[in-house]
Amino acid sequence: MTEPLRVALVGCGNIALGHHIPAYLAVPERFRIVGIADPTPERLELGRAAAGLAADQVHADVAELLARADVDAVDVCTPQHLHRDVAVAAARAGKHVLCEKPIAAVPADAEAMRAAAAEAGTVLAVVANYLFFPEMVVLRRIIESGELGEIRTVRVDMLGVHDLPGAAGYKPAWRHDPAQSGGGVLVDMLHGVYLAESLLGERARQVSAFVDSGTDGDAVEGLALCRLEAERRVALVNIGWGVGPGGVIVHGESGRAVAQYRDNGTMPWAPFESLTVTTEHGTRTVDLPAGPELEPLVLASMRDTVVDFADAVRDGRAPAADAAAALHILEVTVAAYASGALGRTVPLPFPEDGALFRRGAVGLTELDVPEAALVRRRGLFGLGPSPAIAGGA
Ligand SMILES: NC(=O)c1ccc[n+]([C@@H]2O[C@H](COP(=O)([O-])OP(=O)(O)OC[C@H]3O[C@@H](n4cnc5c(N)ncnc54)[C@H](O)[C@@H]3O)[C@@H](O)[C@H]2O)c1
Repeated sequence: MTEPLRVALVGCGNIALGHHIPAYLAVPERFRIVGIADPTPERLELGRAAAGLAADQVHADVAELLARADVDAVDVCTPQHLHRDVAVAAARAGKHVLCEKPIAAVPADAEAMRAAAAEAGTVLAVVANYLFFPEMVVLRRIIESGELGEIRTVRVDMLGVHDLPGAAGYKPAWRHDPAQSGGGVLVDMLHGVYLAESLLGERARQVSAFVDSGTDGDAVEGLALCRLEAERRVALVNIGWGVGPGGVIVHGESGRAVAQYRDNGTMPWAPFESLTVTTEHGTRTVDLPAGPELEPLVLASMRDTVVDFADAVRDGRAPAADAAAALHILEVTVAAYASGALGRTVPLPFPEDGALFRRGAVGLTELDVPEAALVRRRGLFGLGPSPAIAGGA
């Protein structure tokens, strides 16, 4: 039997307290929480109490935590613009890293994280917990069985995403600042993007999208309708804050599979209801129990995520989502923003010297975004009227 990994969390916000700490505590044979770091005193104390730590195991300063020899792995739960510095320093200190999604707010940061882990020979896993939802596991198995034939299209609808604030003691509105979040609802729910690609079975090579704000004056999008094109397979990923519909449809050359959620709602807020498979032989309902409500569902998926991370460290294998995969998924979201702004299909991967790679969504301010583009007229991602027009020229 291997010893439990000694893990320390950086960032004690909503996800750390609500799901990561409980996930580690649920598998004591795999993990022992030995430390936390957070510069916000009230969050640090909440984290200390939830993880059952002593005062000398918690740190306002991340560097102090990373200097400890009794930490094997670091779990990065800060907002995404802060992921890079922690993950790079952790890798250089020889720690394995599990990082919350998105891997970073900016592709260049994600690449720096990937390179640091590769150089240190440490594991860098990125949370992709929706891959572990039971109906998604079964759906992938059905696809792999060949029952649906060659896959052609996937549709993921998540138009009923809840716009949740960050922890009150820190900066509740950071998700609406593109410099911190890297984007709005699409980045926040990029679960829909990696799910779509995992069902498609191929990486997107180019992306086109319609992108708009949900509320006047918001600096990030609240609605993103995206088309991800692989070689001959296409995924439609529709994500928005609000009360719109949800569901997943996979269509192959010999059948389709449809996952539905309560009242046609959006997962995970609406629990899983049914998975049906239709072929020329008729329609069958897959024998899968109705899904649990939000909290137990996400907790179970996070437990599976941390166990996958521990297995990757122990066995020297890739985790469910590694840095290269997470970088690609981040580029898909940035490409969707660029497509919405520029009015054209955007190819992947990005050139590393380009504004989108270096700066992500806010890099659009360096590009020639037309005056008429909705993304500019709505003032998203730091775009506004061009200086000449704003100045009345
Ligand atoms: N997988 C999921 O389903 C899921 C769900 C929610 C959030 N997330 C991700 O988790 C991350 C955190 O989101 P959240 O909702 O918990 O945010 P939050 O605002 O609730 O918490 C952020 C925490 O980070 C702390 N922090 C800020 N700067 C720090 C630093 N330099 N070092 C250490 N801690 C620092 C803050 O004090 C705060 O406690 C984000 O990347 C988000 O996208 C993932």
